Amino acid sequence: MPLKKKIQELKKRREQVQMGGGEKAIEKQIALGKLTARERVIKLLDENSFQEYDLFVEHEARDFDMDKKVLHGDGVIIGTGTIDGKSVCIFAQDFTVAGGSLGLMHSRKIIKIMDHALKMRVPLIGINDSGGARIQEGVNSLAGYGEIFFRNTISSGVIPQISVILGPCAGGAVYSPALTDFVFVVNNISKMFITGPEVIKTVLGEEISMEDLGGAKVHSEITGNAHFYAESENECFEQIKKLMTFIPWSNQTKAVKIDSKLPKKEYIIDNIVPDDPRLPYDVRDVIKSIVDGSEFFEIQEHWAKNMVIGFGRMNGETCGFVCNQPLVLAGVLDVDSSDKAARFIRYCDAFNIPIITLVDLPGYLPGVDQEHAGVIRHGAKVLYAYSEATVPKMTVILRKAYGGGYIAMGSRHLRADFVFAWPTAEIAVMGPEGAANIIFRKEITTAEDPEKMRREKVEEYKQKFANPYVAAARGYIDSVIEPSETRSLLLHSIEVAKQKCISMPAKKHGIPPF
Ligand code: HXC
Repeated sequence: MPLKKKIQELKKRREQVQMGGGEKAIEKQIALGKLTARERVIKLLDENSFQEYDLFVEHEARDFDMDKKVLHGDGVIIGTGTIDGKSVCIFAQDFTVAGGSLGLMHSRKIIKIMDHALKMRVPLIGINDSGGARIQEGVNSLAGYGEIFFRNTISSGVIPQISVILGPCAGGAVYSPALTDFVFVVNNISKMFITGPEVIKTVLGEEISMEDLGGAKVHSEITGNAHFYAESENECFEQIKKLMTFIPWSNQTKAVKIDSKLPKKEYIIDNIVPDDPRLPYDVRDVIKSIVDGSEFFEIQEHWAKNMVIGFGRMNGETCGFVCNQPLVLAGVLDVDSSDKAARFIRYCDAFNIPIITLVDLPGYLPGVDQEHAGVIRHGAKVLYAYSEATVPKMTVILRKAYGGGYIAMGSRHLRADFVFAWPTAEIAVMGPEGAANIIFRKEITTAEDPEKMRREKVEEYKQKFANPYVAAARGYIDSVIEPSETRSLLLHSIEVAKQKCISMPAKKHGIPPF
C-alpha cells in the first residue's frame, strides 16, 4: 500500500478513536454541562501543544460480553503538553466510553503517563470523570487502582500532582486525588464519594442526592478534600493555570521568578489591626499589604476559614503563607485548621518554598467536641510540620499569641529562622481575663469590690505579659518592629536564608501524627 494511503488510513483510525463513546454519549456529556475529555485537555494546555500517546490501546476483557465491545482508547486520554511553555504530563478519563470506568488497559495508560511524569520531573495533571473500577474486569481494575495509588505516593513531594474532578469519582477511585497535592472541583459537575447514594439507601435506608453527599460545595466547605472551587470548567482551568505560576515543577527546581512589584497603596498596613484587641480584622489585608502587587492566591478558601493559607510572591519569588484569621473563631487552631496548616507547611517544605507565618490567635479551641474529635492528635500535626520543615521560616506575631498557639504557629522553639513581633503583640500563656481569674482568684473573691479588683488584676497581668517585650527580653523574638517595616524585614530575611543549611538526624522517616 502506498504511503499516502497508509497515512489516510491512520487519519481515519485516529478520527474514529477520537470520537470516544460516539455521538450519542457525547451529546449526553454536553447536556450535563460537561466538556469532553479531549476538549478539556486542549483547553487546559497551551495551544497546539498536546501530544497524545496510546490512542490505539484496546482492552483485553472477555467476560460479560466485553469481547464484543470496542472501547476507544479504553476510556482515557494520556499525553504531554505545555502550560505557560513548560512541559506537563496529563490524563483525562473519557466518561463517554464505558463511563470512564477503569479497566486494566485504562489503568496501564494512566500508569505510563505517571511514570513518565516522575521520570521527567514534570507535574502530573489527572482529570477524573469515571464510574470507578470497571465492574466487568474484576480484580484487574482493583490492581490498576493499586498501581496508581502506589505511584501517587512515590511521586508525592517529588513532582506536583494535580487532580481535577470533572464528573463522578466514585468508590476507591477517590483515593488517587486524595493522595495528590491539589484537588480542583466544579459546582454541579464534581462528585466524590466512597459509597454512592444507592448503597447508602440499601445499607442505611437513608436517601441523599449525589450533590449533597459529595458535590463540589461539600468538598470545598465541609470535608476539605478540595483545594479549589469553581463555578465552571473554564474557571477551573484558569485556576489551575494560575496555581502553576506559583509552584516549582519538581522538588529540584524553583518556581519561575517574576518581576517584583510593590504592594498596592490601598493596603495600609498600619491601619489594619484595630486598637481594641477584641475586634476582628481580615488577615488577608495584612498579607496583601506585604506581598508583591498585593496578589495573594488562597488555597482551601472555603474550608477551615479560621486559618488562611496560600501563595504570594516576595521580590518575585513564591512564598507560602500560613496565617490565623481573626475574622473567624478569633483565628483559633482546631481540628480542621490544624490539618489545613500542617499539610500546607509540608507541601512548602517538600518543594523548597519559604514559609511566612502571621500569628494572631487565642490558642487551641476548647470544648468537648474538639477534644473528642481529636484536637490533640490533629493539633500535634502543626507542631510536627513546623519542626520538621527545613525551608526558610519567618514568623510575624501581629497580636495575640497565647499558650499552645504561640508555640505551634512557627515559634522560635520550633526553629523559625526569624521571629518578629509588632508592638501590638501579646505573648502569654493565656488571655489576661482568663489568667487574672485563675491566678488572682483568692484576691478577687475576697475583695470588697470583686469586679473592681478583677479589673485591676487583669490590667496588672496585661502590663506584665500582654506585650512583646518579655519575649523580646529572652530572645524568643528577634525584633519588635513597626508594621510598616514588615515587608522590608521579610525580604531581608528571605535573602539571608537563601543558603540556609541545616542537618537533621539520620532516620528512615519520622512518624507524624497522621
Ligand atoms: C463499568 C460502568 C461503570 C463501572 C458506569 N459504567 N460505571 N461500566 N464499570 N464502574 C457504564 C454504565 O454501564 C453505562 O454504560 C455508562 O458507563 C454510563 O453510565 P450511566 O450509569 O448511564 O451514567 P450516569 O447515569 O451518569 O451515572 C454515573 C454513575 C453510575 C453515578 C457513575 O454509572 C454509577 O453509579 N456507576 C457505578 C459507580 C460505582 O459504584 N463504581 C464502582 C465503585 S467500586 P452504557 O454501556 O450503558 O453506556 C470501586 C472500587 C475501587 O471503584 C477500589 C479501589 C481501591
